[in-house]
Amino acid sequence: MPLLIKGGRIITAHEDYYADVYCEDELITAIGPNLAVPEGTEVIDATGKYVFPGFIDPHVHIHLPFMGTFAKDTHSTASIAALHGGTTSYIEMVCPNRTEDTLEGYNLWKGMAEGNSACDYTFHMAVSKFDDTTAAQLREIVADGIASFKVFLAYKGFFGVEDDELFNTLTLAKELGVITTAHCENAELVAQLCDKLLSEGKTGPEWHEPSRPTAVEAEGTGHFASFLEMTGAAGYVVHLSCEAALKEAVDAKLRGVQLYVESVIPHFCFDHTFAERPNFEGAKWIMSPPLREKSNQKALWDGLRMGLIDTVATDHCPFDLEQKAMGREAFTLIPNGIPAIGDRVNMLYTYGVSRGDLSLNRFVESASTKAAEIFGLTQKGRIAVGADADLVVFDPDYRGVVTMDTHHVNNDYSGFEGFEQDGRPTEVTVRGQVAIRDGEFVGDTSRGKLIRRTPSY
Ligand code: URP
Ligand code: ZN
Ligand code: ZN
Repeated sequence: MPLLIKGGRIITAHEDYYADVYCEDELITAIGPNLAVPEGTEVIDATGKYVFPGFIDPHVHIHLPFMGTFAKDTHSTASIAALHGGTTSYIEMVCPNRTEDTLEGYNLWKGMAEGNSACDYTFHMAVSKFDDTTAAQLREIVADGIASFKVFLAYKGFFGVEDDELFNTLTLAKELGVITTAHCENAELVAQLCDKLLSEGKTGPEWHEPSRPTAVEAEGTGHFASFLEMTGAAGYVVHLSCEAALKEAVDAKLRGVQLYVESVIPHFCFDHTFAERPNFEGAKWIMSPPLREKSNQKALWDGLRMGLIDTVATDHCPFDLEQKAMGREAFTLIPNGIPAIGDRVNMLYTYGVSRGDLSLNRFVESASTKAAEIFGLTQKGRIAVGADADLVVFDPDYRGVVTMDTHHVNNDYSGFEGFEQDGRPTEVTVRGQVAIRDGEFVGDTSRGKLIRRTPSY
């Protein structure tokens, strides 16, 4: 059925104006004032509301075997939570570990998502080892429409690559025109610091941050940038958490390295004191890189406003309290990850736009458009004739508080519980079909399609 979104204030990465948006056959087909309403058109009244392009989360974990357990979501539960929060497309990390086959991993992840997601999706392909078979397999995966790799400089021996493997991956990425995303923490330093702290009897979640301080992340970021510089490949730092690492990234950008920076909503909203809460409650906020000293949050907000940070993602990775309790005796065994897929847009709007100094355009750019541009989602992140009709009608007057009832994630806690919220998506569409109406999910968990991408670097 055709759809008309009427009378809203349209905000894109670069524009701000009032118009109607008409959608037919999955696409935006007309934009303008007082568009005619053909018979049989569904009309959404957006008077007094913003109309944003569907938001894109460029870093999520849904299927993830990790630290002796599995992240809690299915593609169905994660995509429903995403849509409640205005996210209409996500990029999931395909993460086989070093003992697993790369191509088998890709096919496993792809098969799990297929027919089970209410949002559109694509993947970053993790390269956890680089042996005699890897290059041919990666060529096959890229030919299937996956135009980005992922490397972990952390998680030694599990996902983490050695320097020769990093070099080979980036050399191949350069040849194929693929961008490589990277988790930048020096694995050896983390391993040594963890051993030292545990040997001193420092076992609680509050010791997670000291086991991987900002210098460890800054070293990892600079290390990745040097390898990009030597290979000429394009790169993207994921979940950058601190000023020291941002300086390394900006230094590299200034040297002409093609490097993009992502930070994630937990690092904007939580400081290290969350992970220090007593009686093991801090485990809820254990992720890597860890939550930092508050001054780093200011650096992230400033960096985002100035465009030094390109995108805001989630690194969504839910583990429930029983799973977190696997690390009661040693913080090194607490599964790393915080759920956030449904909260990113609302928290960024509340604390960035409504209560901060982030412009509406920068908000849209960093939470949608820039990810589409960097990762080649050419039909997404825009409100333009011919683009996919992924749209968010957003009520800026809504006031609420995040609770277990509102967060929609498949988990028994939300790290954002108790956070005040200004504004919320009321209607959300996926290629012209309404998936959220008046804040409730009315979509279809098999509608999501794999977005195939073309290498462009
Ligand atoms: O703690 C985190 N970030 N968990 C997910 C895996 C990763 O490093 O992205
Ligand atoms: Zn990571
Ligand atoms: Zn991640």
